[in-house]
This record gives sequence, C-alpha cells and structure tokens, in this order.
Amino acid sequence: MTLDEVLVKEISSIVGEGNCSTRIADLYTYGFDSSIHHHTPDIVVRPRTAAEISELVKLASREGIAVVPRGGGTGLCGAAVPINGGMVMDLTRMNTIKEVRVNDLYCVAEAGVVYDRLNEALAPHKFFFPPTPGSGEACTIGGMVATNASGMRAVKYGATRDYVLGLEVVLADGSMIHVGTNTIKNSSGYQLERLFVGSEGTLGIITEVILKISPKAKKAAMVLAAFDRLEDAGKCVSNVISVPLVPSATELMDDICIRAVNKAVGAGLPDVQAICMIEVDGEPEIVAKELKVVEEVARRSGASSVQVSDDRKQMARWTSARKSVMSALSRLGDQLVSVSLADDMAVPISRIPEAVVAFHRIAEENQVIVGTYGHAADGNLHTKMLLDPCSEDSWKRGEKAVGQIFDAVISLGGTVTGEHGVGISKAPYMMRERPDAWQTMLTIKMAMDPKGILNPGKLMQWKGGIIRDLRYPCRDLCSK
Ligand code: LAC
Ligand code: ZN
Repeated sequence: MTLDEVLVKEISSIVGEGNCSTRIADLYTYGFDSSIHHHTPDIVVRPRTAAEISELVKLASREGIAVVPRGGGTGLCGAAVPINGGMVMDLTRMNTIKEVRVNDLYCVAEAGVVYDRLNEALAPHKFFFPPTPGSGEACTIGGMVATNASGMRAVKYGATRDYVLGLEVVLADGSMIHVGTNTIKNSSGYQLERLFVGSEGTLGIITEVILKISPKAKKAAMVLAAFDRLEDAGKCVSNVISVPLVPSATELMDDICIRAVNKAVGAGLPDVQAICMIEVDGEPEIVAKELKVVEEVARRSGASSVQVSDDRKQMARWTSARKSVMSALSRLGDQLVSVSLADDMAVPISRIPEAVVAFHRIAEENQVIVGTYGHAADGNLHTKMLLDPCSEDSWKRGEKAVGQIFDAVISLGGTVTGEHGVGISKAPYMMRERPDAWQTMLTIKMAMDPKGILNPGKLMQWKGGIIRDLRYPCRDLCSK
C-alpha cells in the first residue's frame, strides 16, 4: 500500500517532519532486522513520547495500517521486519533512564534505552540488569521485554521476564495502560506485565519499563576447558550444575566456532573439538572455592587442558572471542554466510550432550556446515548454518536440516527458541512445539488487536515455511 499524501502529512504532524520518512533508502533500510528476512515498509516514524505513539496508533487503527515497533534491530528471527508493509515505528529516540532507585531495587527506563547504557548508569550504584544479551551494545530494553531476551548470565540470574515489574503500553486502539507495579511483590490480579513479555509487538507497544535490578558480584573468575570430544564438553556443563554449583556463565563452542574466531579475530583458542568457558562470581572466597570445583569437574569430564583466570583483561579476551562467534562464522568459508536458521533452541540441561551430537549428525546428513555454541548451562544452544546465500539448493538443504533439528529439540523436551523469540523464522515450529497452546495465544491476540494492525503476520499468524522474504539475492527463487 502506498500511503496518500494527506495521510503522510498527518503522520508527520504527530512526530515532526524530521522523524517521519517515505524516502526509498529509509524504507529499504527499515525493512531489515538482523534476521534472514526483509520486507519494505510504507513509512518510517521515530516518535519521542508515549503520547505521540498513542496518536500514531489511533491513526493506524482508523486507517487499518500495520504498525511494527522496533528497537535496535538486533532481533534474529524477523520480529521487526514489516512483512505486510505499513508503518515501522523506531523507538530508539525514547532513550531516557527516568529513575534509578537502588533502595527500592528498581529502575525505570523508556523502551528505547540501550542495554549497555542502562548498565553504565547502574554501575556507579554497584547494581546491574543481568541478562547480558550478545547484542547488549545495541539492543534496547523494550526489545528485550518484547522477546524475553537473555544471554550469558541467564543460568544464574534469569532472563528479562524475571526482572519486569511493570510496563507502560499503548494498546491497539491507541489507549495507554500501566500494568504491574513498582514493588518487588505484587499479587494484584492478572500479571499482565508477563503477557507482554515475548509478545513481539503483537499485543501492544511497550513504551516504558520498570525493571528489578541486582547487586553486582564483587569478583568473577573463569575456567577455559578444552575437550577432544564435543559430547564431553556437554557433559562437563551438566556435571558442573549437578555438583550442585550454578555458574554465572557457561559458554560452549564447537570446533567450527573455534576455528572461525581463531581465523577471523586471532582469538588463539585451543584448537580442539570443543571448549567450555565457565564463569563463577560472588564473594572472593566463594569464587576461589568454586573455581577449584569447576576445574576439577572439567578434568573429570575429560578436559584435555584447563586454563584458569581471574584477570579482568584475560577474561574480557575470552568473552570477546565468544561474542564474536556469530560474525566470525561468516568469514570461515569463501561463499558461505552464517544464517540464523534453527539458531536458538533450549533443552533441559541434562539433554545438552544428546542435543549437540544430534545437531552434528543432522548437519552431516544434510551436507550443511553448522556451528554450535551457546549458553549451555541454561540449556540454550545456538546453531548457525553456513550457507551459500545465492544458491537455492543450499537454502533447501538448510531448510531440511532446520526441520530435523527442531524435531530433535522437541523430542528432547525442549523449545525452539530460548532467548531470540519467534518472529517469522521460528513461527511454524513454535506451533509444532505448542500444539495445545498456540490457539489460546491466537485468541488473546484477536481479543487485544481485533483489527490486526499490531505486527501482523507473525508468530501464530505466520502462514507457510520460513525460507521466504529473504534478504539475500535468491529471494525470488526461494519465495516460490
Ligand atoms: C549470542 C546470541 C546469538 O549468544 O544470542 O551470541
Ligand atoms: Zn545467545
């Protein structure tokens, strides 16, 4: 749909001319997030206040225009891609941290505040918002709530949902509501703030978030254990947990990921089948004790070498090597790029060894290269497929492998997405995973957005397969 001039004028009068665009270059750019998908919107707006958002949604509701909110655009499954066109709403100008109340254990941030900026503001108070997504430099708090994002520290500190106390939300008719409270406890009716966690812009537009905050640990230290068998690295992770010991982070990387980061950024990681980076944090004497335990468990689990460090610079180098896996994978083979297909499943922790072995077998059978890495101790693994994006055959093999990987995950009692969300790339498989729940999700969606204007066509509204609306040159071949 091309919006007529009168409507564009009305929209720009709400946000100001400089914050509204129908220029081809802007529309093209805002057709992406960080997933494999792309679709061009009809208009882009950059509101500054919840009142502006309310006006925009009222107009969209009146005119039947789709509204797709977005934060940093770091999502990996297409949740922020305007698949039916319409209005992309960039929330990054809503970037004020309104309150930091350490005595009350909460802070209040507008939806567009970047994760790392919030933690910079909390650091002088010795507090933090812990989920640690890999995209922390760019992702926004609103986007994190909308996808229940998390990352390295979820095993000990939980995911975004565990920190959401309250929200301000603009609903599909443009009205504004406040859900949850600014208290740590709340039994006051339905926990509606939870309903918006993971809703990916389909139920309302999150404009402000009240977040619980955590005190920062005094000290941290890390073990880097190398393994000649991938399965042993998986076992090491579940052996640590069953000590019992809950590390503050546990990152697993297979040989493909190790080779990729050593090649791309000269990380100098051990050239083995798999490594585990295990971090413990807390009071210094507890850290020292736990470090010894983790070292001993790693050796008992078959580690061929174990390095230990509490040096901040060394730990930062290891963490940075881990963080660069995703981009490094695209530099491993000439024609190949790393794509987010079946990239974020979670299984019960004890099933990690079976899961990693199954992923490698499926990759081999379908002749695709799959790098496996991830947070492991919370059961969350990432698999990035290396495909030739110009080859339809490559995509077809990838698509087949995706189906098999997700079948394996579901049969292990897992979920198709642990922290990235559903969007487009996981939609058919989310419905396969939740045969008795997705209809209820759809009922809620219909009740809250009867005109279907909020991020339409996503999650349980997605029809068909996932190799569609690709951002790559073979988009037409594969869209058949
Ligand atoms: C990571 C992202 C992909 O862990 O979730 O690097
Ligand atoms: Zn991750």
